[in-house]
Amino acid sequence: MPKLTRFFIRAALIYLLLGFTTGALLLANEGIPFAPQLWALLPNHIEFLFIGWLTQLALGVAFWILPRFGSLTPRGDERWSWAAFVLVNLGMIVSIVSAYVGFPWLGIGASLIQFGGFLLFLIGNWQRIYPPKWLKAAK
Ligand code: HEM
Repeated sequence: MPKLTRFFIRAALIYLLLGFTTGALLLANEGIPFAPQLWALLPNHIEFLFIGWLTQLALGVAFWILPRFGSLTPRGDERWSWAAFVLVNLGMIVSIVSAYVGFPWLGIGASLIQFGGFLLFLIGNWQRIYPPKWLKAAK
């Protein structure tokens, strides 16, 4: 398993824990309302589970299993995907902060940072979607 996949999946598992913890707090508070301010966690809960957990798990596994080039650099220039990892997680942190500081542009900034991350992942892995040349030649 490539090092970047380990990073993506470990980060995803951390967000799974955060997502389920916030979900459990929201659920408990819905049953017995003990702290109405907990509703402020809802945007974080959604972000943790959709981007932090599901998306990062998918990116990490995709980086691992997409067809390789069969050369010294089987996954192409990995720096694109490493930069994607950094931007997606930076966007997560900015998004968490933006939920607590009354500055709406920060939330938009977080989405843009994450979008940039997805774009870099796409650039770095686009060529891998085609079968390797040696496989085509063997057919
Ligand atoms: C992959 C897993 C999950 C995803 C993608 C997810 C996503 C979401 C989304 C999109 C909402 C907003 C729904 C709305 O406002 O109508 C939500 C609300 C909520 N989630 Fe989750 N969730 C997940 C797991 C969980 C878990 C494990 C728990 C509990 C332990 C939980 C508890 C809640 C609660 C209590 C709400 C508020 C519901 C309400 O508006 O009354 N979620 N979740």
